[in-house]
Amino acid sequence: MRDVAAAAASTGPRVLPRNDPRQYDDLAGEWWRPDGAFAMLHWLAAARAALVPPSTRPDALLVDLGCGAGLLAPHLVGKGYRHVGVDVTRSALVQAAEHGVNVVQGDATAVPLPDGCADVVSAGELLEHVPAWPRVVAEACRLLRPGGLLVLDTLNDTALARLVAVRIAERLPTVPRGIHDPRLFVDARALVAECARHGVDLRLRGIRPQAGGLVAWLLRRARAARTGATSTGRAPRIVPTRSTAVLYQGRGVRSG
Ligand SMILES: C[S@@+](CC[C@H](N)C(=O)[O-])C[C@H]1O[C@@H](n2cnc3c(N)ncnc32)[C@H](O)[C@@H]1O
Repeated sequence: MRDVAAAAASTGPRVLPRNDPRQYDDLAGEWWRPDGAFAMLHWLAAARAALVPPSTRPDALLVDLGCGAGLLAPHLVGKGYRHVGVDVTRSALVQAAEHGVNVVQGDATAVPLPDGCADVVSAGELLEHVPAWPRVVAEACRLLRPGGLLVLDTLNDTALARLVAVRIAERLPTVPRGIHDPRLFVDARALVAECARHGVDLRLRGIRPQAGGLVAWLLRRARAARTGATSTGRAPRIVPTRSTAVLYQGRGVRSG
């Protein structure tokens, strides 16, 4: 099968099927490297956090489903939330805890937290990794208190997303090869309908890395790889785009 985590020569890293969660263990050293294999997750975390307003209550809780190594944490500083992260990958949770996240090892389809406990639920770059994504949506909405906010970003179930996010992006240093299984990409309309079924009116917008910033970043990174120097400079910004056909953000408030 060609759909395997790429790259592995016979003496190289182990070959795992696409979307196998053990890839996150193999890439554990990459999470917090700003120019590492998860670089784009840093840019997306900044854009997701921008959707979260400062808390209005002293004990406000933000539940970060599929939190990984806690890349959202620095962007929440000063917003007044207790940040609880839920993830299946232990090696990622260890790092999230080091960055101030209160971690819970668990599956986002069956979260061991009570109904209505969260002021904000975040599901960043998670749904496209979970075969039963509607169950994650159900859990996210269950955790939200009435008036609570859901924020998420994911990849659309389109031919264009498969081309851009898998065939192109996985050949660039922004996205690890084999991390996505395009069969799990999330149809935007179905996601909106599922959220509505659970009392959340989700509004979507397309997003992408700002083109000039991305090209400059790729050039800097290539130069650094050639010279052995550390790549420095501004990270590309994530900007809104008219189409939700590839990457999109969602934001919605729970009714009730
Ligand atoms: C692409 S990473 C995104 C991490 C983080 N949200 C971020 O944006 O930096 C996907 C994360 O989802 C986690 N994950 C995958 N399936 C999961 C599940 N069913 N329940 C909880 N976490 C899951 C993985 O372990 C990984 O940390």
